[in-house]
Amino acid sequence: MAAILSVSGSPSPTSRTTRLLRHVDDRLRRQGHEVTPLEVRSLPPEALLGADFAHPAITAATELFAQADGVVIGTPVYKAAYSGLLKSLLDLLPQYALTGKTVLPLATGGSTAHVLAIDYALRPVLSSMGAAHIVQGWFTLDKDIAAEGGASPVTPAAALALEQVTDQFSDALGGRTGRLAAAG
Ligand SMILES: Cc1cc2nc3c(=O)[nH]c(=O)nc-3n(C[C@H](O)[C@H](O)[C@H](O)COP(=O)(O)O)c2cc1C
Repeated sequence: MAAILSVSGSPSPTSRTTRLLRHVDDRLRRQGHEVTPLEVRSLPPEALLGADFAHPAITAATELFAQADGVVIGTPVYKAAYSGLLKSLLDLLPQYALTGKTVLPLATGGSTAHVLAIDYALRPVLSSMGAAHIVQGWFTLDKDIAAEGGASPVTPAAALALEQVTDQFSDALGGRTGRLAAAG
């Protein structure tokens, strides 16, 4: 099965985006994938804001990208685009850090007016970094994600949509066998 890096670009300590990602991570693990979570907000601010490419935390994050077969990129929509925090990390990675990788872009937002932010803002950045295959992404409204607590962090309708894009990502990584096993 595949090695997957699951990156949350939210700066919030009570992030809905991160909760949504952890929900997706659980499904990917049940399908047999090895999932490593990475919260950009846990990286040193001085390294991110000071463009410290050589900081050990940045080189370690770079290595996590290098080791991954697949990458889940999750971001809140801020000002009609992805978060500045996410971009601060992407800017410190090698230009082609996503070469050969399959990528699942996910976003959360407060308004359907920005449902296309993944496609007009994030997808071009991921392409420029050499992603081999960017599968269909998904935008989830924040009102469909519980702030904290509860058995499921997302509403049933949101969960179903996420299952579909997650399974397409898993299939693209060659996870169909594991997916069928998980379903059975
Ligand atoms: C500074 C800021 C800017 C935002 N801008 C937008 C926006 O332009 N479009 C939108 O749909 N939602 C916007 N939102 C709402 C967030 O995208 C939404 O609540 C998201 O789920 C928050 O995720 P988080 O808890 O992981 O930070 C904004 C929220 C904040 C705090």
